[in-house]
Amino acid sequence: MSLFNVYPLFDITPASAKDVFVYDTKGVKYLDLYGGHAVISIGHSHPHYVQSISEQLQKIGFYSNSVQNPLQQKLAKKLGLLSGCQDYQLFLCNSGAEANENALKLASFYTGKKKVLAFKNSFHGRTSAAVAATDNPKIVAPINAQQEVDFVTLGDLQTVEAILKQDKTCAVIVECIQGVGGLDEMPTAFYTAVAKLCKEYNTLFIADEVQSGFGRTGDFFAFQKHGITPDIISIAKGMGNGFPVGGILIHPNLKASFGMLGTTFGGNHLACAASIAVLAIIEEQQLMQHVKALSTYFIEKAQSLSKLKTVKGRGLMLGLEFDFPIAELRKTLIHKHHIFTGNSKNPNLLRILPPLTIQKEHVDQLIHALQQEL
Ligand SMILES: Cc1ncc(COP(=O)(O)O)c(C=O)c1O
Repeated sequence: MSLFNVYPLFDITPASAKDVFVYDTKGVKYLDLYGGHAVISIGHSHPHYVQSISEQLQKIGFYSNSVQNPLQQKLAKKLGLLSGCQDYQLFLCNSGAEANENALKLASFYTGKKKVLAFKNSFHGRTSAAVAATDNPKIVAPINAQQEVDFVTLGDLQTVEAILKQDKTCAVIVECIQGVGGLDEMPTAFYTAVAKLCKEYNTLFIADEVQSGFGRTGDFFAFQKHGITPDIISIAKGMGNGFPVGGILIHPNLKASFGMLGTTFGGNHLACAASIAVLAIIEEQQLMQHVKALSTYFIEKAQSLSKLKTVKGRGLMLGLEFDFPIAELRKTLIHKHHIFTGNSKNPNLLRILPPLTIQKEHVDQLIHALQQEL
């Protein structure tokens, strides 16, 4: 059997990884400033993480959601404490798309409405409602296109209000910092105004924190900088440090009923063990403070680069915007300097999404490589 060929691949085969480094089958060491699409939060193969998952697997790896699983409560408690969202309720699933799919579904159940408002350049995943709310027609199949979604330009409050007024929209879904779209973020006034309009027109505010959550911005969630209270918060990526796990945090106003949402694998014992270990390490190693310090250092250093237009993003969710397309530069960084970085919808933007454990010397390594190439 051959693989369904949907991924254009770099000719690199990782064989092992440790903290911020990935080693390929030829023994080449790569500095990972991309974290496999913002997934690696606490560093590759962190000893406590490896031990927690291994020990859990020795006991029990999986049983269905029809029996008690105290690890889910333990995860919910720890996540509530660390994120400051103690009063929210947790529903666990397996990926970012599934998190958003459940978030949108819940918003529709709750409000009885079925349209969605999303923003231009958004990315929310590839399942049915999530992909329909993603601003990329190439990945929306006809079966998904039946979903009614209004795409509004970030910052255009008037249009948001005009649409919500029609009383057909169940949810506004927002990445407070756009990931795939290219690290754009609006001033606080925009998010607070959207949240207010949502309340006024009985529409739920969904904060998509799949990429920006779990400490990546230096706050636990990116929306927290704006002082808003989302109705639903979707999470995945950094939550499992590579173990597939996702979830939604649901405001206490939204009440559950049996069967409303469900999943076979979501919240299994191994996924919980992985995510509990991630949270423990974020706390013990004070990674959110570390992210803020490293971010400041990175931005300062980056200012010295020639051809740089601006640095976008926050924390360790950053983008270097140049005055030329970065595709070739990114390849040179990988093949010549052995540094992984990312791209985005903005062709001039080099995306930096490292493990949250990177140190100044790793930032220096990138800056040095860029200075040579620019
Ligand atoms: C903001 C955001 N939401 C949702 C997703 C989808 O997550 P997944 O690929 O785990 O389904 C992504 C993935 O890149 C994302 O960046």
